[in-house]
Amino acid sequence: MMTLNATANSNPADNSQYEKRFPKQYQSWQKTAESKEVTDALADDPNLVILWAGYGFSKDYNAPRGHQYVITDLRSTLRTGAPMTEDEGPMPMACWSCKSPDVPRVIEEQGEAEYFKGKWAKGGPEIVHVLGCADCHKPGTPKLRIARPFAERAFAKLGTPFDKADKTEKQNMVCGQCHVEYYFEKNEEHPNWVKFPWDGGTSVEAMEAYYDKLKFKDWTHQLSKAPMLKAQHPGYETTAKGLHGDMGVSCTDCHMPRVTNAEGKEYTDHNVGSPFDQFEFTCANCHDQTKEQMQALVQTNKDKVNTLKLQAEDELVKAHFEAAAAWKAGANEEKMTAALTDIRHAQWRWDFAIASHGIAAHAPEEGIRILKTSLAKSAEARKKLAEILNSQGVVSTVAIPDISTKAKAQAVLGMDMDKMRADKAIFIEKVVPKWEAEYKANNGAN
Ligand code: HEC
Ligand code: HEC
Ligand code: HEC
Ligand code: HEC
Repeated sequence: MMTLNATANSNPADNSQYEKRFPKQYQSWQKTAESKEVTDALADDPNLVILWAGYGFSKDYNAPRGHQYVITDLRSTLRTGAPMTEDEGPMPMACWSCKSPDVPRVIEEQGEAEYFKGKWAKGGPEIVHVLGCADCHKPGTPKLRIARPFAERAFAKLGTPFDKADKTEKQNMVCGQCHVEYYFEKNEEHPNWVKFPWDGGTSVEAMEAYYDKLKFKDWTHQLSKAPMLKAQHPGYETTAKGLHGDMGVSCTDCHMPRVTNAEGKEYTDHNVGSPFDQFEFTCANCHDQTKEQMQALVQTNKDKVNTLKLQAEDELVKAHFEAAAAWKAGANEEKMTAALTDIRHAQWRWDFAIASHGIAAHAPEEGIRILKTSLAKSAEARKKLAEILNSQGVVSTVAIPDISTKAKAQAVLGMDMDKMRADKAIFIEKVVPKWEAEYKANNGAN
C-alpha cells in the first residue's frame, strides 16, 4: 500500500513532481531560496520589543525573506515556542495557514473544522512542504486558484468572488490569500479559525471599527495594560490604495513578471522577490527612467515613511511607560480606559502601515497618512495620561529605562531569553525530525 502512496503524483502538495512538466516555472520558484538573509527586526529597532511587550513578537521577529523559507522560519521562531507534544501551545493550528500547500491538502481531506482544531504542534507531522505550486494553482495545471476557503469567503464578501474576478484581480488575489490582515476568531462556532476582518471594508479605520465592535484584542500590553491589536501584513489592502493599484498594476506585474530566457522562451518568473532584480521586465515595461532613478524615487519614499515610523514609535513607547506609571500611582480603570483606547488605536495604525511590507513602494501616500493618524492618536493618549498622572500627584516626567538594544529592552520586561532559546534548540533537535519521519510514513516519501 505504501508504495502506491509513495508515487509522486498522488500528493498535490509535493512540489517536486511538477518540475519535469514545468521546468522554467519550477526552477525560478526554487530561486526564492537565494533570498536567504535573516534580518533581526528587533535588534535593528529595539522599540519593537516594548511596543509588543507581553506578546510573542517581542521574543523574536525577522523581516520577511524568500518563499522557500516559510516552514524553516516558522519552526525556528521563538514565537512558536518549543512544544514537545501535540497538545502543547502556545500557538494554534491557524498559524500554519499561510505557509504550505499541505494546508489546502489537509483542509480538502479533513474539512476546515478539523484542520483548525488543536494546537500548532498537531500540524507538525502534516505540514512540511514549502509554499508552492498548489498554493496558487489548481494542482498540476497553470490555472490560478484560491487554495484557502477562508480567503475565498473574504474576497466574495468584498463583492467579487475569485471566479468572477478579472485577470489582474486574480493575480492580486493569489497573493492576497496570505499578504493580508487576518485574525483568529474567538467564537464558539469558529474557534481559532482564520478570518479577514473586512466585513466593514479594508481601510485601516474600517478594520479598527470592526475589531472595536467585537471588543477583540490580540493581547493585553504588559506595561500599559491596553487591549492591543497586532496587525499582520495588510499588503493586499494597502497596495490597492496606491496609485499603481488604482491603475490596475498587479502584484505579479512587479514581483512575477513575464520574462524571456536565453532560448527566447517567454514564461512567468516565479522567483518572487525585489522587482529591481528584474528591472527590464518590471518597472521598465511602463517607465522610461533608469533603474537607479527608480530606486532613488522609491528610496525617497522609504525615508519619508521611516522617519514617521520612528516618530510614531517614540510616542508610543512613552505612552506605554506613562500608562504603567499611572497605574502604579493608583489610577483606576475608569480613569484609564479612554487613554488606553487611544494607545490601542495609535499602535494599530502604526503597525498596519509598517507590517504592510513594501508600503513605501506600494502606496507611500497611504502609508504616510496612516502614520500621521497614529501620531495624532498617541498625542491624544499622552495628553490624557499627563492629566491622569497629574491628578495622581505625579509631577515629574516619567523616566524611560535604557532600551537601546534588543537584549536591554527584553531585560526591562523580565524576559528569560536564554531559557526560550535552549527550549527551542531541543525542539528543533528532537521534535522536528519526528514530524518529518511521520509525514513520510503517512504520505509517502515526497
Ligand atoms: C505565489 C503564487 C504562485 C506559486 C507559488 C506558483 N505559481 Fe505558477 N503562476 C502564478 C501566476 C500569478 C502566474 C501567471 C499566470 C496568470 O496570471 O494567469 C503563474 C503561471 C504559471 C504557469 C503558466 C505559464 C507561465 O509561465 O505563465 C505555469 C505552468 C506555472 N505557473 C507553474 C507553476 C509551478 C510548477 C509552480 C510550483 C513550482 C508554481 N507555478 C508556483 C502564481 C504562482
Ligand atoms: C501561502 C501564502 C503566501 C502566498 C500565496 C504568497 N506569499 Fe509572499 N510570503 C509569504 C510568507 C509567509 C512570507 C515570509 C517568508 C519568510 O520570511 O520566511 C512571504 C514573503 C514574501 C516576500 C519577501 C521576499 C523576500 O525575498 O524578501 C515577497 C516580496 C512576497 N512574499 C510577495 C508575494 C507575492 C507578490 C505573492 C503573489 C504572487 C505572494 N507573495 C504570495 C506568504 C505567501
Ligand atoms: C508597482 C510595482 C509593485 C506592485 C504592483 C507591487 N509591488 Fe510589492 N514591492 C515593490 C517594490 C519596488 C518593493 C521594494 C523592493 C525593494 O526595496 O527592493 C516591494 C516590496 C514588497 C514586499 C516587501 C519585501 C521585503 O522583503 O520587505 C512585499 C511583501 C511585497 N512587495 C508584496 C507585494 C504584494 C502582495 C503585492 C500585491 C498586493 C505587491 N507587492 C505589489 C513593487 C511592487
Ligand atoms: C504595468 C505598468 C507599470 C509598472 C510595471 C510599474 N509602473 Fe509605476 N506607474 C505606472 C503608471 C500608469 C503610473 C502613473 C502615471 C505616471 O505617473 O507615470 C505610475 C507611477 C509611478 C510613480 C510615480 C507616482 C508615485 O507613486 O509616486 C512611481 C515612483 C512609480 N510608478 C514607480 C514604479 C516602480 C519602482 C516600478 C517597478 C517596481 C513601477 N513603477 C512599475 C505604471 C507602472
